[in-house]
Amino acid sequence: MRQPLVAGNWKLNGSLASTKELLAGIKAGLAEVVNAEVAVCPPYIFIPEAQAQLAGSSVAWGGQNLSAETSGAFTGEISASMLRDFGCKYVLVGHSERRTLYGEDSALVAKKFAAAKEAGLIPILCVGEALEERQQGITEDIVAGQLATVIDQSGITALDGAVIAYEPVWAIGTGMTATPEQAQAVHAYIRSQLAQHDNAIAGDMRILYGGSMKPENAVELLAQDDIDGGLIGGAALNAENFLSICKAAN
Ligand code: PGA
Repeated sequence: MRQPLVAGNWKLNGSLASTKELLAGIKAGLAEVVNAEVAVCPPYIFIPEAQAQLAGSSVAWGGQNLSAETSGAFTGEISASMLRDFGCKYVLVGHSERRTLYGEDSALVAKKFAAAKEAGLIPILCVGEALEERQQGITEDIVAGQLATVIDQSGITALDGAVIAYEPVWAIGTGMTATPEQAQAVHAYIRSQLAQHDNAIAGDMRILYGGSMKPENAVELLAQDDIDGGLIGGAALNAENFLSICKAAN
């Protein structure tokens, strides 16, 4: 039985004041969410605030990114162990914005995945195709390739306990959501790819959907057999919307 996970990816948004307010709002509405796990990924600098407010609550927190390196002359980077120091449980790895805007290729993403695991963080590995790739009918090849680099680098057992987020790039922040059927098909495909290596890991893997998930479409998406939660961007910046997605996963 896979426990659903709803994770908020706050991206580059908010101030200290709005972060405090959002955290308080989420905490206040959690009583009804008992079966789904909830996590938030604030900008790095607000992680101590998340820790201060969420410690002892049922909400976990995590980073949106991490360095593949452990320490050294890497200006501006944050390591996995630094995230651990501030109580992070999760970290996003290979978000499409990192891949496309910051040139992170699959090899670097695999290295970051390994660094996260090494430090005891749970990586949320993001995969997904661009619009042209879907139009060319190569969605499965793209997703399989993104998974394969991580499996080749770290081995299938490294995926034990990790989380995968399927986020079609064309659906992120665009208001265009994959239909429940489109999303389910890719989620089932991802699980089948994992099953080629290890049935138990495939069966236990939580595969989240991300890309314009909101209260209006969450119920239908989350009802799909292979959709085990959501990675939420825009709708996670509003406590009421975020909580309503958490309740849909519940
Ligand atoms: P969105 O972002 O919900 O705003 O589409 C999702 C994500 O990028 O993780």
